[in-house]
Amino acid sequence: MQHEHIIGAKQFNREHLEELFEIAREMERIVESGGSNRYQNKVMTTLFFEPSTRTRLSFESAMSRLGGKVIGTENAAMFSSTIKGETLEDTIRVVSAYSDVIVMRHTEIGAAQRAAKVATVPIINAGDGAGEHPTQALLDLYTIQKEIGRIDDIHIVMIGDLAYGRTVHSLSYLLSNFKNIKISFTAPENVQIPAYVKNFLDENGVSYVEESDLTKVVPTADVLYQTRIQKERFSSVEDYKKASGQYIIDQKVLDSMKEKSIIMHPLPRAGEIAEEVDDDPRAAYFRQAQNGLYIRMALLEQCFK
Ligand code: CP
Repeated sequence: MQHEHIIGAKQFNREHLEELFEIAREMERIVESGGSNRYQNKVMTTLFFEPSTRTRLSFESAMSRLGGKVIGTENAAMFSSTIKGETLEDTIRVVSAYSDVIVMRHTEIGAAQRAAKVATVPIINAGDGAGEHPTQALLDLYTIQKEIGRIDDIHIVMIGDLAYGRTVHSLSYLLSNFKNIKISFTAPENVQIPAYVKNFLDENGVSYVEESDLTKVVPTADVLYQTRIQKERFSSVEDYKKASGQYIIDQKVLDSMKEKSIIMHPLPRAGEIAEEVDDDPRAAYFRQAQNGLYIRMALLEQCFK
């Protein structure tokens, strides 16, 4: 499959996902054997209007390991001509002429779609505000496949900031491609999963429950998908305080998990997974972050193929 742009998770079907995962496995072998120079004539621009460690650096590493060149700005709001009043559309029109692909993170929902309308090269959405983060969800699914050995027939518990958590939205959409999925949404009262995500799951026959008591859903979970309460998304400190600190994965939670289950987190974490959990083999979040490299190499491969 060749994507013109990667904007949202709904554009992927099961066949596309299996093809992408096959390429990601090939990318693991390429990294192990020292990389490739197959895209030495290609340039990738990273345009980040919000902070990032994993997404930007794993894309940049992915491009480097395929022999390509990287240009970009990590604080595009300050260090691009956006600060002089340039529109997103004009920035994208211009940067398209310098690049073969643009990886963009923006503060606004729908920004990637806007960029795609005027770009002459593929746009990859690296997160658009509280909207979507499709490449994170792709690496999340790849991690579940690797760690659990399947994606069908899983019970996944999504915890934390489900309202603004764009990775949760994208992952919910992707899971609709698989059979017999059960999702439990466990969130503080003021950051519940949005109705539009639930509507999508209803329309696509995905079974879900909203359960505020984590202890009720942990013992049958194959995956605990913890997320950070994103302070930067709240309009007031009071609202943030209401949501924070309610669900923490610690030794007590670990003790009630199945032996063959995993804990995931898109990261960064801010206290919602205790460090005492890190040495448990079920703590998959750092392996998950590493899988981001392989999935993003695979996405670039599909982009340039
Ligand atoms: N998971 C994720 O998007 O991390 P960064 O914000 O560090 O890119």
